[in-house]
Amino acid sequence: MTRHHRVRRPLSLALLLVAVTALAVPGPATAASFPYQDPTLPVATRVADLLARMTLDEKIGQMTQAERGSVTQADLTTYRLGSILSGGGSAPTPNTPTAWADMYDGFQRAALATPLAIPMIYGVDAVHGHNNVSGATIFPHNIGLGATRDPALVQQIGQAVAEEVSGTGVDWDFAPCLCVARNDRWGRTYESFGETPDLPSDMSTLVTGLQGATLGGPTSVLATAKHYLGDGGTTGGDDQGDTQLTEAELRAVHLPPFQAAVQRGVGSVMISYSSWNGVKLHGNQYLITTVLKGELGFTGFVVSDWNGIDQIDGAGGFTAAEVTAAVNAGIDMVMVPSAWKTFISTLRAEVQNGHVPLSRIDDANRRILTKKFELGLFERPYTDRSLTPTVGNAAHRALARQAVRESQVLLKNAGGVLPLARDNNKIFVAGKNADNIGNQSGGWTISWQGSSGNITPGTTILQGIRTAVGPTTTITYNQRGTGIDRTYRAAIAVVGETPYAEGQGDRTGSMSLDREDLRTISTLRNAGVPVIVVLVSGRPLDIATELPAWNALLASWLPGTEGAGVADVLFGAGPTGKLPMTWMNAVSQQPINAGDGQVPLFAQGYGLTY
Ligand code: BGC
Ligand code: BGC
Repeated sequence: MTRHHRVRRPLSLALLLVAVTALAVPGPATAASFPYQDPTLPVATRVADLLARMTLDEKIGQMTQAERGSVTQADLTTYRLGSILSGGGSAPTPNTPTAWADMYDGFQRAALATPLAIPMIYGVDAVHGHNNVSGATIFPHNIGLGATRDPALVQQIGQAVAEEVSGTGVDWDFAPCLCVARNDRWGRTYESFGETPDLPSDMSTLVTGLQGATLGGPTSVLATAKHYLGDGGTTGGDDQGDTQLTEAELRAVHLPPFQAAVQRGVGSVMISYSSWNGVKLHGNQYLITTVLKGELGFTGFVVSDWNGIDQIDGAGGFTAAEVTAAVNAGIDMVMVPSAWKTFISTLRAEVQNGHVPLSRIDDANRRILTKKFELGLFERPYTDRSLTPTVGNAAHRALARQAVRESQVLLKNAGGVLPLARDNNKIFVAGKNADNIGNQSGGWTISWQGSSGNITPGTTILQGIRTAVGPTTTITYNQRGTGIDRTYRAAIAVVGETPYAEGQGDRTGSMSLDREDLRTISTLRNAGVPVIVVLVSGRPLDIATELPAWNALLASWLPGTEGAGVADVLFGAGPTGKLPMTWMNAVSQQPINAGDGQVPLFAQGYGLTY
């Protein structure tokens, strides 16, 4: 194959020069184009034609994904890079939809300025809306969507996210996380639709929402089923840890959501940082090639996680042996955010010395290029600016509010304290998560870890409450509860967790409310007013000891920017959410899951209504 290539090189060079000239001007290829540029030909024919024209360096470039902050447009052209990503919070300045589209188009122009003019594909973590973009609609995190039990709604959300993502040019979303979170200590529990495989499987409708019925529609965004496999099953809920299960258990608990996503035609799969019985997934040929690509029949491409190949041997950085292990295991594109140059030279050497067969390189390229053709990137490489105004639009915010409303799980309602009357009422609102867009959105919002405060436009839960009531009702707010007295008819304490992502959210010790929250709640209680606790958190918390003193408890999860959906339920919309996770009776029960024989505070599936 290689030799054949070389013989043909002089001839193709001449043709390439023609192509370069033709493609210097953006727009559809003309009569001088090659078969791969002809959209009337079948994708497989186009891929084969293109592959036959590519050098080894061009093929390795397609398999390389760099981070936007670590590459220039010139690098893209010089090194023939196939993909760029934005890491969590990595955004252009200013962080506006138009600046994103301009950035995207700039990189794309550089990719198209190569001899074969192969478009790059740009990936982001739009894991609850297009969450790196200021002003985007932020939807509830997956744990809340799991509580809705509404796969059709989740599909609609996928479509809305795809519109916002497309409006900034971006083609590829590292979502959905189809993890089955088994231990609530895990910092990524909120990225899970539920602790049993049925929920993430049902919610794989998000794939269809993002991609459309087939790739290539005006708002089609390539979806990613992640993280393969067993990310939510690690011992102790340790992020990136070891999932110690028999193969039968691993298949029964963690594989079904990936099967469902493959059946929906998911375009990519991301490998998990975690290990299975001591072996890092990033080097696991059996699970990636034999099971995923073979048995499950996955025809898309496999991407590594951020510097994930570095972890194969347990030491920092990557070696040639790790590059080879990852690629030979079946990883098609490698996320090497900053070390992409070393990756390229290493992989080239490993192909040249025969450690990585050219057939593997060709297979990876076939998979990646197939998706680029199917997405229509060769015909429509630039941002569709007509979609840019969809970022954060009213229709998407209304959909998010509906999702928030449907995700609320009512766990206690003593004496029917809820719903609250909208009129002639006097309500006190307190708590660190009552008036805080950042806290109610959680991690993966504007920045990787997320942060407290006014980080992006939206409606806080307090603002939602204020607009839910009529002019005859008084709403008083003080974060710590200062100023409450017995004249109030009810007090709402909006408490819980503050933002975190990935391992920084692992809770190895207590899973209780913090001292500030406990103090706020006791201040409210001491006034002799019924207390409604609204828990804004990424997972069930250890609250069994405090619960008897609370009149009502509403699990709000991490609702995102549309806090009015919480108020909808407090003031009358009958709650419909059901627990996607078993709620511990004590932290010592972790891990606790449906069917394990432990007695929970609330079983998976629990949820009251009115
Ligand atoms: C996370 C992935 C994410 C990637 C890119 C990793 O740290 O595990 O879920 O897609 O970063 O941001
Ligand atoms: C990036 C994330 C990535 C993480 C991995 C962060 O710096 O922003 O996207 O998931 O590193 O550790």
